This record gives sequence, structure tokens and C-alpha cells, in this order.
Amino acid sequence: MSEPELSGQLEDLRQQYEALRGLDLSLDLTRGKPNKEQLALSDALDGILAGDYRASNGTDTRNYGGLEGLEEARELFAQVLDTPPDSTYVGGNASLSLMYAAIECALSQGLRGPSTAWGNDDPVKFLCPAPGYDRHFAICEHLGIEMITVPMLDTGPDMDRVEALAEADHSIKGIWCVPRFANPSGCVYSEDTVARIARLGNIAAPQFLVMWDNAYAVHALYEDAPPLAPLHAYCKQYGTLDSVFQFGSTSKVTFAGAGISFLSSSEDNLAALKQHLGFQTIGPDKVNQLRHVRFLKNPANLASHMAQHAALIRPRFECVLDTLERELAGLGMGSWSKPRGGYFVSFETLPGLAKRVVALAGDIGVKLTPAGATFPYGEDPNDSNIRLSPTFPSLEDLTAAMNAFVVCVKLASLQERLNRG
Ligand SMILES: Cc1ncc(COP(=O)(O)O)c(C=O)c1O
Repeated sequence: MSEPELSGQLEDLRQQYEALRGLDLSLDLTRGKPNKEQLALSDALDGILAGDYRASNGTDTRNYGGLEGLEEARELFAQVLDTPPDSTYVGGNASLSLMYAAIECALSQGLRGPSTAWGNDDPVKFLCPAPGYDRHFAICEHLGIEMITVPMLDTGPDMDRVEALAEADHSIKGIWCVPRFANPSGCVYSEDTVARIARLGNIAAPQFLVMWDNAYAVHALYEDAPPLAPLHAYCKQYGTLDSVFQFGSTSKVTFAGAGISFLSSSEDNLAALKQHLGFQTIGPDKVNQLRHVRFLKNPANLASHMAQHAALIRPRFECVLDTLERELAGLGMGSWSKPRGGYFVSFETLPGLAKRVVALAGDIGVKLTPAGATFPYGEDPNDSNIRLSPTFPSLEDLTAAMNAFVVCVKLASLQERLNRG
């Protein structure tokens, strides 16, 4: 295209952008939260116990105790994590708290006593596949753990890089993983990646931990969404169960703020963590655990509940992907993930334009996740990744937000092209 043609296009886009400004939009694509219709799917939790607070073994769930969680809850959620019930604990409303507790325990107390505490070494480092989940990175930053960015591929973290780093540098004590429908790319780790992650315990530092955050384990948007290979089985095969903590929660199954969390690890790790947690609480909210078991019942019922979630949010994901395809395909102005589940779409602008696109959108009332948020220390080396969260806004708002988003991407890209001459 000639320069006058490009300038003409730029003028046209500027007019579209100014027209959008005139609409006084107030839209928000930042929140990876369930929408209110999704929350309503679980309203039957309220009152489901109907005064019957007894767990199957007779425990009065209203009382103190039971740090490892109710037996029937461990049984049910072990099936979500694909782990044995006796190595699965069920906790309070946030898996993030369990992750924090596990890291804090390994760092300051040591999972096998004080001589094994990561904090005995300085520095303590963590591998952070990115783009990734900002709150994982925030835990590291808060606890003074140095983060090393590792690229995410379509198959999961770049395992050549992960293995080389973990083997060479024993101040690296762990890695963050969101193995199914990763936040934000939606990638499902390949079987080879899962097997290689299971082997890390044999090549990395002695107290190395894989933080396997399976937050979206049952969050498929389509029936044919790829399954996840069984990490536990691979770890058993390689003798590395001590090097893995697996996590999950019902935050995006029932109520995001009032669900339950679960984790699984080796017997010795669980014993250490239980002792550590014992200083923070006498036990989790077992009433809520019982409500969840009575409501979700079994894996088949959970699957049909999740299919109802998928029916509500699939049109929103399709709105995002259809708009991107219709407006941007073939223009060389960006690329995006096409997730089969989870909560996000990951968009890559041309290098150096993510902050500009986020600012352009913000100026016309479309709030996007800050550029860089998906990288350690909030710094995306290419300034190109933008996380889009389609689930929370109404379809109408989402459509308006996406129409504005693509104009911002085109405007930033074309300006850049003309600047570079
Ligand atoms: C990958 C991932 N892990 C954990 C969480 C939060 O989980 P919870 O509500 O159980 O603390 C989120 C929420 O967005 C997430 O995306």
C-alpha cells in the first residue's frame, strides 16, 4: 500500500476512534470473574444442608478441626486433580492462600525441617513461564523470590529452557504452572511437557517444587477440548512426588468468593504443610465443604454443571474471537490465542505496542488489563501481550468493547507503520 493510501486509512481510523470517544463508553475487559448468570447456577448451595450438618462419618461440620478437610470433599476433589484422596487436602475459599502457604513454608520453615528451608540460600529463584498469572508473580515478589521469565509455547513452558535452567542453577527452587487452559493463553500442556515437568524433581535443586495450579481443570468451553496428561501418575513413575504441589478450587465452579480450595502432594509434604497451616487456623470451613459436596455430588454431575457454565460463556469467547478474526485476520497487526477452555484470550500486538493499545482503549472508556501484567515484575520485554477477559461483561458490552479494541489495535499499528516509514 502506498504512503498516501496508508495516510488515508489512518485518517479514517482516527475518525472511527473519535466517534467511539463520543459514545462515552465505560467498559471493562480486565476481570477474570464469573458473570452473575454463572454465579446463579450455584444458588442452590444456599440452604442445601437444611439443618443437616453431619458429614458421612458423623463429624459435626459446624465445629472446629479437620485441617485436611472432610473425607467426602477430599474424595470428590481428588477426582478433579486426578490424585489419590488420601494425598488430597481441602481448604478454605482460595487456592491462592494454599499456594502462598506452601511457598512460605518451603521458604521459611523448610518442608523437611529448618536445614531444608529455601531461605537458607540467597538468592532464591523461581521459573515463571510468561505470559502467566500476575498473582503467582506477585507472591514471588512479595516474598523476595527472584523471578526468571521462561517463554510459553503452544505446548506449555519451553521445556528445553526450563530443564537447562533448573539443572544448571540450584538457587532455582520452583516453577509456576497453569497446565490446563493456562492463564492467559488457554494453552493445555502437551503430554510430553507434563512428563518432562514430572522429571524436573530428578534434575533440579533438592527442594525444587512444581507449583501445579490446575485452576481451570474442569473449565472446558467445548466437549472436544484437550484433556491434561496425569502429572501424578508420571511423578509416581519417576519417583518425584515430593517435588510437586497440585492446586485447584471451585472459585469458577460455584462462587468465586465463597468456594473451596484443594491441593495434593506427597505424604511428607502434606505433613509439613499441615503443621504450618496449623499455626494459622484450627480448620477450614467444613460447612461450606459439605454444602459443596451435597451440591456438586460427583464428577458426572460436576461435568454437567460445568457444561452450563460453558453454555453461558462460550458466546462471549466467540464474540471476542469472531471480532478479532473479522477485523484483524491477515492484516499483520497482531495474533491471538484460540482457547478451548479457561477464562482468557491472549492477544499479541506488534512488538512495542501493547502499552499504546491499552492507553488508547483507556482514553475512550475501555479498560484493559495493564500491559505487562502477565509478566514477572509487570515487564513484558516485547511490550506486546494483552490479556482479554470475556466472561464478566454482558454480551452487548463485550461486543462494544471488542469493536473499540480492534480500532485501537489498528490505529496503533498503522501509526507505527507510518512512523517507521
Ligand atoms: C491460574 C489461576 N489460579 C488461581 C486463581 C485464583 O484462585 P482462587 O480463587 O482459588 O484463589 C486464578 C483466578 O483468576 C487463576 O487464574
